Amino acid sequence: MIPGKRRAAVMFFSVAIFGALMLQSVSSQNEPSIAASESITVSVEGDSYTLQCNLTSSHSAQQESYWMKNGEEIPETRSPNKNTEYLLKKTKGDSAGVYMCVFTFAMAPAANATIEVKAAPHITSHKRSENKNEGQLAVLYCKSVGYPYPVWTWRKLDNGIPREIDNSTGRFFISSRDNYTELHIVNLDINLDPGEYHCNATNMLGSHDEMIVLRVRSHLAPLWPLLGVLAEIIILIVIIVVYEKRKKPDDLQDDDDHAGPVQESSPEEYKLSSLSAEFIHHFTCIDHMKVNKKGIQYLSLQVWLWRSSMRHAL
Ligand SMILES: *[C@@H]1O[C@H](CO)[C@@H](O)[C@H](O)[C@H]1NC(C)=O
Ligand SMILES: *[C@@H]1O[C@H](CO)[C@@H](O)[C@H](O)[C@H]1NC(C)=O
Ligand SMILES: *[C@@H]1O[C@H](CO)[C@@H](O)[C@H](O)[C@H]1NC(C)=O
Ligand SMILES: *[C@@H]1O[C@H](CO)[C@@H](O)[C@H](O)[C@H]1NC(C)=O
Ligand SMILES: *[C@@H]1O[C@H](CO)[C@@H](O)[C@H](O)[C@H]1NC(C)=O
Repeated sequence: MIPGKRRAAVMFFSVAIFGALMLQSVSSQNEPSIAASESITVSVEGDSYTLQCNLTSSHSAQQESYWMKNGEEIPETRSPNKNTEYLLKKTKGDSAGVYMCVFTFAMAPAANATIEVKAAPHITSHKRSENKNEGQLAVLYCKSVGYPYPVWTWRKLDNGIPREIDNSTGRFFISSRDNYTELHIVNLDINLDPGEYHCNATNMLGSHDEMIVLRVRSHLAPLWPLLGVLAEIIILIVIIVVYEKRKKPDDLQDDDDHAGPVQESSPEEYKLSSLSAEFIHHFTCIDHMKVNKKGIQYLSLQVWLWRSSMRHAL
């Protein structure tokens, strides 16, 4: 390249860069400036804190100021003041988050400043227990307050020690977003899955842990009432058949003695039929109860009692 042309090119670029820098400094001088409180860390104890923003310079007339938390306007914070405050009363973890003061102008875009309010995570709600049948889906969740948003981990108690969840069967799915986490366990296994699960929220300021109990019932559990009714019917049939067999020799004798076709019921038979009525009544009552394993035991006891009372009657 010819030296003269080179120098001209260097000059040109220097002027261009200098110009760009000047422009930027001019525009930043025009930017409004805000003096805002430093980020704070709040304790769970419930102290009070004041967040402040002072508009120290602006290019055009200020209209209003207001406060935002986590991207949403806090109601009733609008004011025409250049210096604005927001009071955090008796903070709990839920005061933590990203606060922002916003100043609006008649002829220019709004300006803002950010104040972070940090707190250790605290799990405020969680599923306490989940009862499901094997093969079903279990959904466990935990929700926290605190900022920065925590890192979530799920563990399962194994011999009293919380351990990372063993996902070798590929049935565990974790989805966590900010202050919320969910653990899905698909196709529940009655032998592997029941137990105590722990969700743990950890950020740079601390951690918190909560426990959820998962119970898994057998497939047959919803069938128990049906099985109970079935058992009643079978027992009833067995008793009737046994009774009929016992009755037969007498009937035959009766038929020999009296040739008449009309059969009157003997006192014995009457006693028995009233007993059966009582028996059926009993089981109708039981039907209305929730029949489970205990109910079946109760049923067996009833049948035993009924049979001994029948033996008495005969
Ligand atoms: C804002 O202004 C008030 C009153 O002038 C002053 O006390 C306060 O310290 C200022 N706040 C900040 C964050 O500069
Ligand atoms: C805050 O100011 C920045 C530029 O400084 C802007 O990009 C952002 O949209 C503003 N946010 C709000 C909520 O006004
Ligand atoms: C959780 O975070 C969302 C935003 O991600 C927020 O709207 C909600 O209020 C937060 N809940 C709690 C309990 O902090
Ligand atoms: C468990 O395994 C499944 C299948 O490999 C996978 O999709 C899932 O993300 C895993 N879950 C966890 C918590 O690692
Ligand atoms: C939560 O997990 C973290 C990191 O694994 C651990 O340091 C902390 O002790 C746990 N917190 C609780 C309350 O168990």
